[in-house]
Amino acid sequence: MCGIVCYVGSKPAKPILLKGLKQLEYRGYDSSGFAIQNGDQIECHRAAGKIAELEKKLNGLDIKGSMGIAHTRWATHGEPTEENAHPHRDNDENVFVIHNGIIENFYALKKRLEKDGVVFRSETDTEVLAHLISLNFDGSLSEAVRKTMSQVEGTFGMAVINRRSPGEIVIARRGSPLIIGVSEDGHFAASDVAAMVRYTNKVVHLQDNELATLTREDFSMSTAQAKPVERSAETVEWRAEDTELNGFPHYMLKEIYEQPETIKNAMRGRLETGEGVPKLGGIMPVWDRLKECRHMVIVACGTSYYAGCVGRYIFEKLTEIDVDVELASEFRYRKLNFAPNTFVIAISQSGETADTLAAIREAKRKGASLLGIVNVVGSSISRETEAGVYNHAGPEIGVASTKIFTSQLTILVLLAILLGRHQNLSLTEGVEVIHALEALSDQVGTVLSQANHIEAIAEKYFNYNNWLFLGRKYNYPIAMEGALKLKEISYIHAEGYPAGEMKHGPIALISPEMPTVAIVPRDEMYEKMISNIQEVKSRRGPVIAITTLGDDRIKEIADDVIEIPPTLSFLNPILAAVACQLLSYYCANFLNRDIDMPRNLAKSVTVE
Ligand code: F6R
Repeated sequence: MCGIVCYVGSKPAKPILLKGLKQLEYRGYDSSGFAIQNGDQIECHRAAGKIAELEKKLNGLDIKGSMGIAHTRWATHGEPTEENAHPHRDNDENVFVIHNGIIENFYALKKRLEKDGVVFRSETDTEVLAHLISLNFDGSLSEAVRKTMSQVEGTFGMAVINRRSPGEIVIARRGSPLIIGVSEDGHFAASDVAAMVRYTNKVVHLQDNELATLTREDFSMSTAQAKPVERSAETVEWRAEDTELNGFPHYMLKEIYEQPETIKNAMRGRLETGEGVPKLGGIMPVWDRLKECRHMVIVACGTSYYAGCVGRYIFEKLTEIDVDVELASEFRYRKLNFAPNTFVIAISQSGETADTLAAIREAKRKGASLLGIVNVVGSSISRETEAGVYNHAGPEIGVASTKIFTSQLTILVLLAILLGRHQNLSLTEGVEVIHALEALSDQVGTVLSQANHIEAIAEKYFNYNNWLFLGRKYNYPIAMEGALKLKEISYIHAEGYPAGEMKHGPIALISPEMPTVAIVPRDEMYEKMISNIQEVKSRRGPVIAITTLGDDRIKEIADDVIEIPPTLSFLNPILAAVACQLLSYYCANFLNRDIDMPRNLAKSVTVE
């Protein structure tokens, strides 16, 4: 999705903005641009395609100025052309605007402005902002933005500069994140901490319906109704090197390899082994209600949704709580009728997914209590939920979610043990699960140590155009996640199925041309999975089995085997997921795909 980075300070703006844009690339985009102000002069450059295209245009240009706004655009209104790239400007070229989100009443506003003689140069909804702010300007840029906020409907995170207001950038937010960065060399604004973390880790989150004016020395915030806002800066734990490749060819591979550490980070300081109980400080504000809860609804999208699907089985195993899992994008269309003391848990890496946000707002309206499992500290979902648990996994840059998925699963296990121990889970059982969790990080290392073997399997199969992933119970969602991972980064068509459903339809697809990845650890589903694998084999379908270390029986049936260390049955999904991630990664690599930025995808999906 679109990205914003802005700077006003004592240093040349161009390198800072270009670096910031590159840090935003992972969000997904199809054009980029910036505007740099030097006194009452503004220089604006834009290009369709990658940031490298923008850089080509700048070759040899000496752009002076120590303030500016920059943007990566993910097309919604109008094709990804240079004319539609941001910044957009008014007809007199005074006001320049970058914008994330969608202006819903742009068509009516555009028609009205055209009647008044305004000439539009792009097909975007954003351009109305530039014209309106220019028309509303009466000496104060922040007042012009404030007035414009009252005229537009929809969502925005915007940043504005004006030839007649040198030295200041005005930013405003409604529904699309914006963060202010505070440093000795000036002030930053960005849609994402990653864009400025190399310059500062002191941030202030702008909230909905607020605007801020940034200058080199200072910043001030107020509400859309002109009420001053005071909010102190927070320190983010992300480090500049977290956003670097550190020798890996792709962020996705780097993040796959970070999992032994991110799994530990999800548990760090949270385990009381002897008591068989985790400590989760973030949920204490709602603990009295939560420990009595008997009905939960997990809402999430994509990979986070699959984490929720595994979570349901885990909660059913360790607690007495009934759990429903809902796709956030569909949740709002349901007739919601919550039992008293229902908790809705939003799972989200970014904490900004529009569908998940909309789902929790609807749940709140209907009286549910809200918890979040979120990676990005201070994000919208973390603020709109009453309590929750952070992943503490550092930035995830690769568009395909990997380390956060296994971190989400780890946190769901912690939450389930904690609740279970206040219900029917015994001390012995609690201690057993915690011991198994403590062993997980090294076990993930064991799966990673088979990377060469998994790469060889990928080399054998990457040219097959259709794949099937099968699993049962805890591993049914891993089959779905494995298929999602493969399709999103390699563009190979893949289906994830509960293995028991195969004979109700998908079995018609089985042929020597269609590999099946069977997730078949030694658990209570093993024998049934073996029968499903036999069904595939008897139709001459190639089988790649992900199974428990030392399982000789499966080696006689499957064509290829990836082994995972033995653990508790509901922790197998974490180990199997890592194997699936490597398999997808290597297939995509053999196909020379743009692994970290697959086509059409965005890291943070902030539109519905
Ligand atoms: C797939 C992937 C997406 C996200 C989904 C939700 O690899 O990353 O399916 O899981 O867009 O995003 P978050 O977790 O940020 O709410």
